Amino acid sequence: MNADSFIESRISVRPRVAVVLGSGLGAFADALENPVVIPYGEIPGWPKSTAIGHAGKLVAGRVEGCPVAALAGRAHLYEGYTAQQAVFGIRTLLRLGVESVVLTNAAGGINPKFAAGQLVLISDHINLLGQNPLTGPNDDSLGPRFPDMSEAYSIRYREMARAAGREMGLELPEGVYAAVSGPSYETPAEIRYMRTIGADLVGMSTVPETIAANHMGMKVLGISCVTNAAAGVIDQKLNHAEVLEVGERMKGTLIELLRRVIPRL
Ligand code: HPA
Repeated sequence: MNADSFIESRISVRPRVAVVLGSGLGAFADALENPVVIPYGEIPGWPKSTAIGHAGKLVAGRVEGCPVAALAGRAHLYEGYTAQQAVFGIRTLLRLGVESVVLTNAAGGINPKFAAGQLVLISDHINLLGQNPLTGPNDDSLGPRFPDMSEAYSIRYREMARAAGREMGLELPEGVYAAVSGPSYETPAEIRYMRTIGADLVGMSTVPETIAANHMGMKVLGISCVTNAAAGVIDQKLNHAEVLEVGERMKGTLIELLRRVIPRL
């Protein structure tokens, strides 16, 4: 049995929205109504997530009546996975009929306007991973060989997210997300370089999934939780515990935002 038919055999409702939850942000999956939980280890072919702070499970359920599939835990390049493996999950959900994708992540703030604890809508990205999930023979059943990426993060979805944020008294600024493979954090010189080329945020995920979703013609909403100022922006060292701790503090706001925006997508 492949991943698609395995998941279909376990869930009764076809998910309309896929949500990928970043480091320390898995709590949203536990807040779904009528949840069906499938640990990644049970799904044929699914890459296991090894990062601390990533639960490694698919949770299908509902948000305000809207059927969603949440991925708590993702495969990162720093774990040794290829970009193709990193998009296995999102491609599987898209083949199951998902129409919209919400990608969340923890990110470092390059733009000094973004303090730790801030939610930022991703307006565009810069792929510094050195890999692209679409390299190799193109699967024409998924999408074209050379997909357009000029609106990789839907303008309409960003407007919807801003409206949902306003209802909560939350201003949601936008920023350009630069993806690096990690796992070492960036040097201050690398962060200055990224600022020069137009990046506001830096992280180690999301871009492969955005590329795969756009390839398949899906619209993407990207939300970064700024967990720390990027290296050299302020005089403070970076550590993963801090990233998880700030993510933990922000999860309530993120869950509320997702709850409000997902049914509108
Ligand atoms: N750099 C890269 N990835 C990250 C960071 C960072 O500063 N914070 C959270 N994820």
